[in-house]
Amino acid sequence: MSENFYTQKISIHDEMPRLSAQANLFRLLLDPFFDSIHFEKESGKGLDAGAGPGILASFLTKKNPNLVWSACDISEEMVQYCKLSYPKIDWKVCDLRNLDYPDNSFDFIFNSMVLIHIQEPEKVMKEFYRVLKPGGKLLITCPNDKTFEGPPVLLEMVAKHAEIHPADRYVMEKVPGFAKDLGLTLEARTDFVASNDGNDDKPKLDYPTIHLGMMTGWSMLSFMGHPDGMQDVYSRCQSEYMSNRVRFSLKLETHLYRK
Ligand SMILES: C[S@@+](CC[C@H](N)C(=O)[O-])C[C@H]1O[C@@H](n2cnc3c(N)ncnc32)[C@H](O)[C@@H]1O
Repeated sequence: MSENFYTQKISIHDEMPRLSAQANLFRLLLDPFFDSIHFEKESGKGLDAGAGPGILASFLTKKNPNLVWSACDISEEMVQYCKLSYPKIDWKVCDLRNLDYPDNSFDFIFNSMVLIHIQEPEKVMKEFYRVLKPGGKLLITCPNDKTFEGPPVLLEMVAKHAEIHPADRYVMEKVPGFAKDLGLTLEARTDFVASNDGNDDKPKLDYPTIHLGMMTGWSMLSFMGHPDGMQDVYSRCQSEYMSNRVRFSLKLETHLYRK
């Protein structure tokens, strides 16, 4: 299987707990968003593309039982785990740059937190277009690291990570252009906001903002410490964060397109 630019040096098993926690928080934001786009009216076949630990795929099946769901990921370990945990979904190992599905297969494609980790995102968009049925919908959601707000050391860490990361942490700015070139129409857009000015015992939803606690906020950023070259700025940021209760916020851009 081809290289996973997402995990690189950390194993997918090491990332699974953080990803699961992230997905459980993220579905609190997705739930009202799906209501706003009348997701319950969709029918036919759905694909969760880059499904990771499968928590959001499982959420989608419950949110709309009328859709018949497939899901895929480049990670064999993730797919093996998900097949056992969510056996009603049709799982497949595949690279989004070369989707192993026929043309015009799906009525709804969901792609969450993946595009920032992929080299050649334009190729992925073309593949989404190919496997979408005419009239089908594509929901793409990802953070845009340019929207981080916080003190200088945090912005330094984010910028350094974006520089080292092999893919594009600002890709959501390019997605509307890719979509336009393919002839996809924008149907809806919401920018969710995650901020760390809440409490750690319970996240507070004030849609489209979610207020996380300080420690929950840091645990969501912990992946930035893994790549070579990040250790110095990561430990300076961590030290400032823990000593001075650093505040940050970030936008998660969410676009819904129709073919
Ligand atoms: C941050 S996780 C997001 C998981 C899930 N969509 C969610 O929101 O909880 C990114 C996932 O993308 C997968 N991934 C990375 N590159 C991929 C590629 N080229 N094709 C398919 N999946 C890929 C990773 O293996 C990982 O499971």
